[in-house]
Amino acid sequence: MTKCLICKSDFSPFINFGDMPIANAFSKKEELNDEYTFPMKVGFCSNCKMVQLVEQPDRERMFHDNYAFYSSTSKYMKDHFKLFSDSVSKLQHLDSNSFVVEIGCNDGIMLQNFISSNIPCLGIEPSENVASVATKKGLEVITEFFDQPLAKKILKSHQKADVILSANVMCHIPYMHSIFDGIKTLLKEDGIFIFEDPYLGEIIEKTSFDQIYDEHVFLFSALSINNLSQMHELELINVESQVTHGGSMRYTIAHKGAKKVSKNVFKLINQEKKLKLDEEQSYLSFTDKVNKIRDDLIKLLNELKNDRKKVVAYGATSKSTTVNNYFKITPDLVECIYDTTPIKQNKFSPGAHIPVLPYDQFRESDPDYVLLFAWNHATEIMKKEKDFMSTNRHWITYIPNVNIS
Ligand code: SAH
Ligand code: TYD
Repeated sequence: MTKCLICKSDFSPFINFGDMPIANAFSKKEELNDEYTFPMKVGFCSNCKMVQLVEQPDRERMFHDNYAFYSSTSKYMKDHFKLFSDSVSKLQHLDSNSFVVEIGCNDGIMLQNFISSNIPCLGIEPSENVASVATKKGLEVITEFFDQPLAKKILKSHQKADVILSANVMCHIPYMHSIFDGIKTLLKEDGIFIFEDPYLGEIIEKTSFDQIYDEHVFLFSALSINNLSQMHELELINVESQVTHGGSMRYTIAHKGAKKVSKNVFKLINQEKKLKLDEEQSYLSFTDKVNKIRDDLIKLLNELKNDRKKVVAYGATSKSTTVNNYFKITPDLVECIYDTTPIKQNKFSPGAHIPVLPYDQFRESDPDYVLLFAWNHATEIMKKEKDFMSTNRHWITYIPNVNIS
């Protein structure tokens, strides 16, 4: 039995992925013998409804000055954050007297939009390499982990925030009570905290198990966020679904009683109950579906190997670390992974040690089959590769089922 990170109730894991490396720890050859792993298991707390990792590596192992994920690699995400920033500015009537804080601003993909509209803002970003890209864009960035003590420190030199934003960060942080206390401290009386993260409902519906890796300590739902907010005298006032990262949810939170609660919140909570996201059995069925995907994909890759087909992968995602290590995909099944991110190139994938090569070499490699690890960017990628893939080449996808196209 394990204690829930949110309400301290006991729970048991519903899936055990075995020993997993750090999802973003792409290594040089000489570093391969020194890989850190942790036992990756996931459970559901039937009391507060939070789905969570049983154990997570220390945060400094994941977020540091060599962090491999640069937000701005995707054009689609740049557009997404421009629309996000514009909608928040309009909703809260932001101007040059306002103050916006972003938790986990990475390379400044979101905040750069506020700077260009003359709206004062501050980024909090502990991974120094990505933070320095944001600083070069003219942003003020504090290179520390956000929590309640940092919120108090910020108030010594800044005003309270009209808006606190965070995208794909909250689900990374196990010390959620300190975060929500920090939000309570830093947010103006009529301010709003908006964050988005991969959505549990989509993960269960699509069986997108690869959203589970070291960084993602929580898979949120309206049910769990509503409960967590109530524990901090805060209130979930709106939810809006997003197509990003394979299906995300944007949650808006305000001080309790400060704003009207949208009917979207009640609707989504009811929908989640209908989907049985509040019942342990749903998670056990999820595990069965993941194992079926594993068996189908491994069977296919072995058949292709026996037929001497050339199989490569596209996108060295964090998600692919879960796929490769849980399914035991090795370089004899998937020759290499092509990726546009310089910091990942000419290194080896965590655990499975599949070579990661620069995207520029993808076409000349002349593959028969391309396993799409960056399936969440499928529209953008398949459009870009349409002509190349049309000539006797095939995509392999595995969410929600193994499929060849
Ligand atoms: N918001 C960006 C980046 C997401 S990656 C986007 O959506 O693309 C997650 C980021 O959260 C990393 O850059 C990591 O360094 C940062 N992070 C992790 N823990 C944090 C904390 N406690 N406070 C602030 N940022 C944190
Ligand atoms: P991302 O989807 O952000 O996933 P995760 O959160 O699981 O790490 O990662 C996308 C990866 O795919 C990133 O390493 C960049 C790469 N990529 C390409 O190589 N080409 C592309 O056209 C796109 C959109 C991404």
